[in-house]
Amino acid sequence: MCGIIGYIGDNVEQNLIAGLEKLEYRGYDSAGMVIKRENDFEVYKSIGAVENLKNKVTRRNCDFKEGTKNVVTNNNLDNDKMKNQDDKETQTQSDFSLGIAHTRWATHGKISLENCHPHFSSQKDVALVHNGIIENFETLKNELLKQGCNFYGETDSEVVAKLIAKLDINSLRRTIKKLEGSFAIVLISKNNDNLFFAKNKSPLYVAVGESCAMVASDPSCFVGKAAEYYSLEDGEYGKISLKEVVFYDKNDKIIEKKAQNLDFRYINEEKSGYEHFMIKEIYQSRIALENIIKRYQEDEIKDILKKVKQSMFDRVYFIGCGTAYHAGLIGESFMRNSFNIDIFSSIASEFQNKNYCIDENSLCIFLSQSGETADTLSALEYCRLKGAKILTITNTEYSTMALKSDYCLPICAGQEKSVASTKAYFAQCIVLYILKKYLQGKDYIEPLKNLKKQLDFGDDNILKPLARNLSSYDKVFFIGRGNDYITAKEASLKLKEITYIFSSALASGELKHGTLALIDENVLVVVVATDEKLFNKTLNNAYEIKTRGGKLALFTSIPLDEIAREKFDYVVKINQTIQEFMPIQTILQLQKIAYFTAVIKGINPDKPRNLAKSVTVE
Ligand code: F6R
Repeated sequence: MCGIIGYIGDNVEQNLIAGLEKLEYRGYDSAGMVIKRENDFEVYKSIGAVENLKNKVTRRNCDFKEGTKNVVTNNNLDNDKMKNQDDKETQTQSDFSLGIAHTRWATHGKISLENCHPHFSSQKDVALVHNGIIENFETLKNELLKQGCNFYGETDSEVVAKLIAKLDINSLRRTIKKLEGSFAIVLISKNNDNLFFAKNKSPLYVAVGESCAMVASDPSCFVGKAAEYYSLEDGEYGKISLKEVVFYDKNDKIIEKKAQNLDFRYINEEKSGYEHFMIKEIYQSRIALENIIKRYQEDEIKDILKKVKQSMFDRVYFIGCGTAYHAGLIGESFMRNSFNIDIFSSIASEFQNKNYCIDENSLCIFLSQSGETADTLSALEYCRLKGAKILTITNTEYSTMALKSDYCLPICAGQEKSVASTKAYFAQCIVLYILKKYLQGKDYIEPLKNLKKQLDFGDDNILKPLARNLSSYDKVFFIGRGNDYITAKEASLKLKEITYIFSSALASGELKHGTLALIDENVLVVVVATDEKLFNKTLNNAYEIKTRGGKLALFTSIPLDEIAREKFDYVVKINQTIQEFMPIQTILQLQKIAYFTAVIKGINPDKPRNLAKSVTVE
């Protein structure tokens, strides 16, 4: 995974850090940058979030006498030197310069300063940042070892850096032809003022501003700096300076590329007074709903819906990962209840193993907040080859998945920064509802306006004590029936990913087929019951848990009598909406429960350990 950026212009450190902050959703195991100054490299590396790198760079700006021990200049890349070097002589200047930077999600090699990017050529005069996985790196590394090359770390990326002696377009071309796998790379050299770049299967974008030039994993890095950007295709490479940008295609021909407008709607990057992005984003579900109501009345979107409706299909597949997969389950449920055709949903990483019947009569609906998730993208490409029609529902309208689809429906949720997906899930479900209504030829705007009035984020005086209690458990189960089971799955994922509490979701009726053996007084079971038709059966399953000593928390929109009320340790009331909206109404408070529990446990919910927001490796 990882996020990469290259920048030429003034205030290079600040601009690289600002870019890395935007890319941090791609990983935060370590961050690093190299700046070329007077034919030397200044290197900064730190473990953990970009904040740590920023502190290192800022400290150096404010009071270099205190020194930043890990700054490396010239050829001193050895780790002990990295730790001990006194950098008093390397004063920071905020003049024109160029540099590259990286935020890492570790794949090959442990989280360490040695494995932190940028990586360097043997002579240490070429520096590289890389996103992706080089599948043949071991073969290449063995060849280099035989030639006497030394490696300081374990990464596949360092191998690419070591393949380059002198950086120019020919050596870049020769190098990338040797690589198998996925890569977006940006390189600089001590000997010239260009950024060199290449892309294969990992996203990479290029932009030229008035007084700067940039290459990055995500065009959001260009906001405020350039009006347009170029999107690179697989196999393309090139170089950029302040004067010119040159692109080569995969056949090594110089090509003209068409720039796209940098149209960033719904951008809001501040916490705006909230303690974390996650809680802000849960509340932003309301704004997402407003954005959707507005945008889905525009002709541009209605045309897309019309085209989807006109394409003949007799099978529909919903495909996504994690939370997006759960949104797909909601989509499947919406469609199943309305159309008499074959409908399936699948986790993207398992999709190709199932040998589904996919052909030109299939509509494959891909759900992805980022539009870059590797497993989902791979399933999308598989479906394309089979001739299916591809619809992507995404928060990222310029993403690779959006570009590779026949149709793209935006979810208009605005940038989601917290790793745990919240408003995007909500917005995906809303768009799936719209799709169903449109295909049925029914109005969707009025029901959505009503939902807006009924949205229920719950009472923190009820949710916080429950979260406090929940934080003391090691094991939590979530149960429900029908759509409540899907809500249970999503709530369970949210809880485990940001609180590190073991949690699992089950269909209520499944408990007695095995898992009931785990129930005792040390287990909390969260019961989701918002469907009148299924309510009594779910309550009976809850009582079976109570009888075995388990603790119960109920999330319901259905009134309870006194006897039933007494069986539950906690009852959380949810505002009733039309039944179809209940899963997305209910998840709001369950997301908040996960959030409050993480905060009580002292975990930063925006950056849970071992995870990244955008998962660009299979
Ligand atoms: C969980 C979560 C992940 C993502 C999954 C897919 O809170 O955020 O499960 O939903 O990694 O990501 P996208 O939607 O970007 O394809």
